[in-house]
This record gives sequence, C-alpha cells and structure tokens, in this order.
Amino acid sequence: YLQLEDCGSGMYPPKIPTVKGNVTWYTVNLDLAPSERWTQVIKDKNTEVTVFLLPVRSWTLCSIMYLHVSTLGIAAVSGIPLGEIMLFNIFYEVFTVCTSVVAEDFNGNIYHAQNLDFGLFMGWDRQNKTWTLTEKLKPLVVNVNFQRGNKTVFKSTNLAGYVGMLTGIRPGEFSLTMNERFNVDGGYVGILEWILGRRDGMWMGFLTRKVLENATSYEDAKDQLSQAKLLAPAYFILGGNRTGQGCVITRTRINTLDIWELDMKLGRWYVLETNYDHWEKPMIFDDRRTPAMKCMNQTTQANISLASVYDVLSTKPVLNKLTTYTSLMEVSTGTLESYIRDCPNPCTPW
Ligand SMILES: *[C@@H]1O[C@H](CO)[C@@H](O)[C@H](O)[C@H]1NC(C)=O
Ligand SMILES: *[C@@H]1O[C@H](CO)[C@@H](O)[C@H](O)[C@H]1NC(C)=O
Ligand SMILES: *[C@@H]1O[C@H](CO)[C@@H](O)[C@H](O)[C@H]1NC(C)=O
Ligand SMILES: *[C@@H]1O[C@H](CO)[C@@H](O)[C@H](O)[C@H]1NC(C)=O
Ligand SMILES: *[C@@H]1O[C@H](CO)[C@@H](O)[C@H](O)[C@H]1NC(C)=O
Ligand SMILES: *[C@@H]1O[C@H](CO)[C@@H](O)[C@H](O)[C@H]1NC(C)=O
Ligand SMILES: *[C@@H]1O[C@H](CO)[C@@H](O)[C@H](O)[C@H]1NC(C)=O
Repeated sequence: YLQLEDCGSGMYPPKIPTVKGNVTWYTVNLDLAPSERWTQVIKDKNTEVTVFLLPVRSWTLCSIMYLHVSTLGIAAVSGIPLGEIMLFNIFYEVFTVCTSVVAEDFNGNIYHAQNLDFGLFMGWDRQNKTWTLTEKLKPLVVNVNFQRGNKTVFKSTNLAGYVGMLTGIRPGEFSLTMNERFNVDGGYVGILEWILGRRDGMWMGFLTRKVLENATSYEDAKDQLSQAKLLAPAYFILGGNRTGQGCVITRTRINTLDIWELDMKLGRWYVLETNYDHWEKPMIFDDRRTPAMKCMNQTTQANISLASVYDVLSTKPVLNKLTTYTSLMEVSTGTLESYIRDCPNPCTPW
C-alpha cells in the first residue's frame, strides 16, 4: 500500500478535490454552566451524531460506560443516552492516528499543523473505497471559539459530541495537538483501572482541554502536559510564539520519556510526530513519517509557511483515506484554520 508520491505544491488555498468542505465556526461561552455551553452545536449536529453512533452501539464497553456520571450536558441536549456519549468520547482517545508538525521559519515565526486520521478498523466501503466511519465523522467537524466575557480564551477544532480536545490554540501563547501513542508499556491498563473505579489518571483529551482553558504560557502548558498522570500514553505537540518554542512530549501514563524541542543551533527547525517514538523507526506498514519528513526537508526552512506545511500534509500517504481534517495554526497571529479532507483515488487506506 505504501506509495510515495511527489511532495504536494501550490495546494493552498485548499480546494476540491482534496478538500470536502469548510468547517463551521461556533462560539462557546465559558461563563455559562457546562450543561448550557454546547446547546447550539448539538442542535445543529444532532442528526449526524446519531448517525455516527449507530454502528458503534453494540460495542462491548458500551454498558460499562453507563457507570460514568458526567456533567457534560451533551446527553441532556441531544437526547442520546449518556453511555453512548461516553463511548463516543473514548473512541477518539483510543482509535485516532495523526501527523503533527511544528516548524520555525528564518524570522522566528512558528507554524503548527495536524492531520487527524480517524476510523480505522471500522469497516471499509469497497464500492466507494472509503472508511465508513471516517465519512460519517466528517460532517461532525466544527471549529469552536471559547470565550469568557466575550473575549476569546482559546479556539479548537472539535468533533461535535467529543468533549476532549485534539487540536487547539491560545492566541499569542501556544498551540497544542495530541497524537495517539500505541505503546507496549502498560498501554490501556489505566483505562481499565478507570472503568474498574480507580480514577486518579486523566483522559488525555481532557488534559489538553484543561491546558487550553487554563494554562497561561507555552512553559506552563509544557509543565502541565509533562506532569499530569494519564490514563494512557500519548504524544503532546506544542507550539509557541517565539524562536525555539516547539516540542513533542512523549508520555507514558506516569512519566515523560522525552521532550524533543526545536533547536536552531542544531539545525532542528521542525519537529514532526506521527504515532511512533521519534527515536524509533515507525512500523513499516504505517510509515507516514518518512514521506512527511522528506517533504519538510525538500521545502526547506527558507520556504516554510502555513501554505507549504499544508502542502506537506496533503502529500499521500500523509494524506490518506482516514484523514478527516487538516488544521493549520500560528500562535503569533492567533490563526486556526481547518479543512475537511478528501483523498481522491488512487489513495492509500492509511
Ligand atoms: C470555503 O470557503 C472559501 C471562502 O469563503 C470559499 O472560497 C471556498 O470555495 C470554500 N470551499 C469549499 C470546499 O466549500
Ligand atoms: C458511495 O458514494 C455514493 C456517491 O457519493 C453515495 O451516494 C453512496 O451512499 C455511497 N455508498 C455508501 C455505502 O456509503
Ligand atoms: C457580550 O456581548 C453581548 C452582545 O454583544 C452582550 O449582550 C453581553 O452583555 C456581553 N457580555 C459580557 C460579559 O460582556
Ligand atoms: C480552569 O480553572 C477554573 C478555575 O480554577 C476551573 O473552574 C475550571 O474547571 C478549569 N477548567 C478545566 C477544563 O479544568
Ligand atoms: C530530513 O532531514 C533531517 C535533518 O537533516 C535528517 O535527519 C532526516 O534523515 C531527513 N529525512 C528525510 C526523510 O529525508
Ligand atoms: C514555496 O512554497 C509555496 C507554497 O507551498 C510553493 O507554492 C512554492 O512553489 C515554494 N517555493 C519554492 C521556491 O519552493
Ligand atoms: C508572545 O507571547 C508573549 C506572552 O504572551 C507576548 O508578550 C509577546 O508579545 C508574544 N510575541 C509575539 C511575537 O506575538
């Protein structure tokens, strides 16, 4: 399936056929009670959420999720049982693959971008050559502007119904993405413990949510992401607004294994993370890292920008049939742009 193609170029501004549509913006008011915040989003997206939930309804963990009592408010607004909402949330935490990159140009501008790839294992539509779940998910992608006192605190690209955050920015301060780490060292023991009642770890997407809402600088965000106890391993990718502020934090549930930072003195003008530790080789059947790095290297620091990063993330197999959205962020300007993706044939399934 590995088919390397020439690096994309001139693909920005995004257009059909590699983009399916624009992402709608919503405002969420943090001054309101949690149960009232999401009313508009859920109202608009309720049909799609329901459609999406149908195929996962029989999943075995479903009943277990009813144990969790939550104040999310989404269940109340949408009329979908809480158990299914929780299931839906856990899905993103456990079955998402991604490519994230933070890069610095010669002027010290920092660019941060991510492809979110979701829907693996959930059924392949042979006729359309698409992943069933990925296609159902695309209409759920929304941009959210979180405000307090009518002022933006942070912005994120979200999946309606998912409370955690995979992609977000605090303008002027930092940008943050999360990639799944499929790891051997205890992997999902934390999630199992959580289900059984031991709740001292944190859902990875809730931590990113908390950091986006409450961390006040790049350094503060880095500390919080390195120190929290988690339910499962993860990679946190962080960008800042000045030279050297970009890193990949490799996490186990308990510890931070490594913080890989931009370093102009060493010529490290970008850090790029897929779903493998950066000091290890990626799995041979899922190597999005080599083509992405090849294209970053080919772009060079002299020509890096949101447009050229978008080109890199639009190169197959970095762009593949699982790719749900691409987000582009720049902290110093407060930019967050996201695009719902399509990967025209021929395209690799992942
Ligand atoms: C997205 O929005 C831009 C600007 O509003 C428009 O030019 C473009 O055609 C839209 N793209 C799609 C795929 O709808
Ligand atoms: C395949 O694509 C066609 C055209 O976009 C659509 O009408 C049809 O519902 C799709 N089939 C499935 C099984 O999703
Ligand atoms: C926010 O803006 C709305 C309309 O512009 C206004 O009615 C409201 O009082 C403002 N709220 C705050 C907390 O400033
Ligand atoms: C952020 O901090 C405020 C005040 O301490 C707290 O009420 C809120 O729950 C925190 N947000 C998150 C997502 O943890
Ligand atoms: C990209 O460049 C870096 C730094 O020079 C190098 O370590 C890496 O092997 C290159 N990767 C590819 C795929 O060209
Ligand atoms: C620089 O990047 C832009 C945007 O991706 C691309 O169109 C252009 O060809 C690149 N220029 C060079 C000299 O590589
Ligand atoms: C970066 O953030 C700091 C702290 O918020 C701010 O003082 C500074 O002006 C910002 N720099 C740029 C280039 O935006």
